[in-house]
Amino acid sequence: MSKRQRVVISALAILGAVLLPPAGGAGAAGDGDIGDGPVLRGHIDQTDCETGRLSLAELIERGRELFVAKFNTFDGQGRPAATGNGVPTKRLLGPDVGFIRTSSPEANSCAGCHNDPRTGGGGDFVANVFVMAQVRDPVTDSVGGDFSDERNTPGMMGSGAIEMLAREMTVELRAGRDAARAEADRQGSPVVRELTAKGVGFGRIVAHPGGTFDTQAVKGVNADLIIRPFHQKGVVVSLREFTTNAYNHHHGMEAVERFGRARTGSDDFDEDGVPDELTVGDLTAATIFQATLPPPGQVLPRDRRKARAVRRGGVTFETIGCAECHRPALILDKPIYSEPNPFNPIGNLRPGDVSRPVTFDLARDGPAPHLERLPDGRAVVRAYTDLKRHDLCDAEINRFCNEKLTQNGVSTREFITRKLWDVGNSAPYGHRGDMTTITEAILAHGGEGRASRDAFAALEPEERGEVVEFLKSLQILPEGTPTLVVQERDLESVKQRELESSRQESR
Ligand code: HEC
Ligand code: HEC
Repeated sequence: MSKRQRVVISALAILGAVLLPPAGGAGAAGDGDIGDGPVLRGHIDQTDCETGRLSLAELIERGRELFVAKFNTFDGQGRPAATGNGVPTKRLLGPDVGFIRTSSPEANSCAGCHNDPRTGGGGDFVANVFVMAQVRDPVTDSVGGDFSDERNTPGMMGSGAIEMLAREMTVELRAGRDAARAEADRQGSPVVRELTAKGVGFGRIVAHPGGTFDTQAVKGVNADLIIRPFHQKGVVVSLREFTTNAYNHHHGMEAVERFGRARTGSDDFDEDGVPDELTVGDLTAATIFQATLPPPGQVLPRDRRKARAVRRGGVTFETIGCAECHRPALILDKPIYSEPNPFNPIGNLRPGDVSRPVTFDLARDGPAPHLERLPDGRAVVRAYTDLKRHDLCDAEINRFCNEKLTQNGVSTREFITRKLWDVGNSAPYGHRGDMTTITEAILAHGGEGRASRDAFAALEPEERGEVVEFLKSLQILPEGTPTLVVQERDLESVKQRELESSRQESR
């Protein structure tokens, strides 16, 4: 018997009478709903998602439950024998310490961090994650930069559109690469080609005859040209991949598609007594819930001076070069979200694993407001990002180069352009969430952002204020807001309606 098993068994002997059945996942302690039991009301069958037996509305609702559930040991919370590594990894050295703020599990639900200004949003500084501490074995209780990269919680509103943009950009970049290759083969000599996707430049690739490439001059994306829009580092390809990582990392809830018998030889890889903690269908629902979170929009102030500042600030934002990286609009050619993502790495559901993908129209389905559809059927994504990684440091300004640990091989100096579409209610700012004002975050742009930062700094104070006022107007809107751009006074009536309906519900 291992030391760990002995510890578990003696702990159970002490708690036994109270806790039995031990985290068996078999149901509540008593009959029916009486007593402690799992928080989840059951699991979702992927077939029901594919056949449409579960409607989109039901999938979203089940996904929301998975997002707000404060998991307990009956559900399979905790991972006594596994680290928080997304690659299934047994804990070899240290004992299981249960909850620990640094190496985690450190939270009870996804919404424990993603809740500002509402579920699916961002988080306060106190919700920061010590990224990469979760793979430490033994666990670390240090918050120091030698042990982890401390990151603030971003919101995932609009991330269905972000994922689809990334997929289309990947296809475009790879088409560029393939064209260069074909040309190199045809002419029998190397071909240099500028890589662009949706008008964003990603450096140059050199194709040699026979199908080899020189990717040294490729910029802001991995050499495989797959845009990974998630993580402030830009290292995760899909909501699903992120979600599977996060369930294990933060909660010790292990998804079958990554940690199950087919991949690890065990249906209880984390050895907490609960097999198959999250089904493929559970992951689909949690993903669809996030993918249908409405994109943030813009609130036009009632005050005339402020409204004018927002208008002027939006123009200045472009003229001083901010829009070079924070693209005010990217066009999504086909606004249909489909799950799963074809670029998912192994260990995540892929299109070949399903009989039919789950699809919905980002410009029509799910909670409002929806993406804006153009007359030709395409849609506009106003996320203020280019989905490209940049280095914002130079000899004088290097506040954003405060990390020491390299994540997924990406330089510690680079971060993906932060989406600004929710910046009006996503304080605090910066990847560590250690800046309390928008101005502070702007002035911290060095390196590739230096020219536009200096142009901002050189503005009259009034004009700087206008840029900030414009950014403050970009917000996560209350659920049910009919349009993406809304007058402050109309928003007040949306809020009033919400308040009244919640009053009626509680009656
Ligand atoms: C302890 C706080 C915390 C908890 C709990 C948490 N997250 Fe996060 N989440 C973060 C932080 C911090 C980041 C940013 C990570 C980074 O950039 O390195 C993040 C990023 C994300 C992203 C990527 C967003 C983007 O635009 O890059 C997704 C998706 C996500 N979380 C989903 C989830 C899901 C699903 C759960 C529950 C299984 C969850 N998170 C639980 C803090 C948390
Ligand atoms: C070279 C590309 C680039 C340019 C140009 C640029 N930014 Fe950024 N911006 C970024 C990146 C990358 C981040 C993420 C920084 C981090 O947290 O590591 C960022 C972050 C921000 C943030 C912090 C947002 C948050 O929620 O934490 C604000 C605000 C911002 N930029 C505004 C501006 C403004 C205003 C300008 C023009 C003066 C500008 N940026 C120019 C790339 C750029």
